[in-house]
Amino acid sequence: MEETNLSQSYRVAILGATGAVGAELLELLHSRSFPISNLKLLASERSAGTTLPFGGEMLPVEAVSARSFDNVDLVLASAGGSTSKFWAPQAVAAGAVVIDNSSAFRMDATVPLVVPEVNPQAAAAHRGIIANPNCTTILMAVAVWPLHKVKPVQRIVVATYQSASGAGARAMEEMKAQARAILQGETPKTDIFPYPLAFNLFPHNTPINDLGYCEEEMKMVNETRKIFGTDEIKITATCVRVPVLRAHSEAINLEFAEPFSAIEAREILKQASGVKLVEDWQANYFPMPVEASGKDEVLVGRIRQDISHPCGLEMWLSGDQIRKGAALNAVQIAELLAQKNLLRTQAAAASN
Ligand code: A2P
Repeated sequence: MEETNLSQSYRVAILGATGAVGAELLELLHSRSFPISNLKLLASERSAGTTLPFGGEMLPVEAVSARSFDNVDLVLASAGGSTSKFWAPQAVAAGAVVIDNSSAFRMDATVPLVVPEVNPQAAAAHRGIIANPNCTTILMAVAVWPLHKVKPVQRIVVATYQSASGAGARAMEEMKAQARAILQGETPKTDIFPYPLAFNLFPHNTPINDLGYCEEEMKMVNETRKIFGTDEIKITATCVRVPVLRAHSEAINLEFAEPFSAIEAREILKQASGVKLVEDWQANYFPMPVEASGKDEVLVGRIRQDISHPCGLEMWLSGDQIRKGAALNAVQIAELLAQKNLLRTQAAAASN
């Protein structure tokens, strides 16, 4: 990816700054030197008056309000769908561009859904809101796109192994507390999750449609097609929550129109942006969530010919859901907007 344009700086707000993704956004904006002239941290009333670290300073957290978006160029929102639905249009009306991490606008035909490694060009058509895709979808898109570009994928069958982090910071704490309770012989408490996740797993707990697919599974189907710019790919998904603290994994089966050798796929993925090939067949060493945690790349491995289909490939990935699956992808979109001059600057605002 190109360098961010450092000749401009931007007035940035993080909506949901106190959450798991919010913490990662703060770290990434600092470590990637995103050019910021002013940073506002926004959350609910619960967090008003608390402070959060940013580049060695402690910044105050404010409760989001109607005036929060005055003089803001960019909002990075990660505070849930209903919060985004309510505040994102107001932020746009106040002159900001919103990169929204929730599912609220992803399938809106007027809102670009962007994975910078796949469809950076889509960002230019934004009308104020750009959607950050679902975490499992981002991880799969980064790994499958480089192969799809060489030989179009016809069908994807994916099973996910999703960590507690996908449900936010409080869910991670809940799973740790459940583990402690179980080890002490106590009954684990469930508040965020419907069932105990520690020492357990369960199919993803989003609402189920008439066809028996949960929302998370349908996000993988619909969002992948929108990002790849085709409705031709057949996709089916089974999403499962597993007792992993952070980073999701996915078992992906791909079907092409013609044979795609594992050797060729491996060579392509070795060069692919955002992907790190992790394979040691002698040691049975492949991507693992503990090793994907905190990393920018999606770890991909176990690439092998599908013995049940002449044009099939199997692969396995682990990727940090909070980082590439959410905060990093959002910051990369922000960098893309800055490079392409698609963000308003303080100077431009003053001259209006
Ligand atoms: P707060 O900490 O004040 O509740 P996570 O997904 O890790 O649970 O984080 C959710 C983030 O969204 C938190 O920063 C949380 O703030 C914020 N949030 C949740 N509901 C609202 C709301 N109604 N208005 C503003 N921020 C909200």
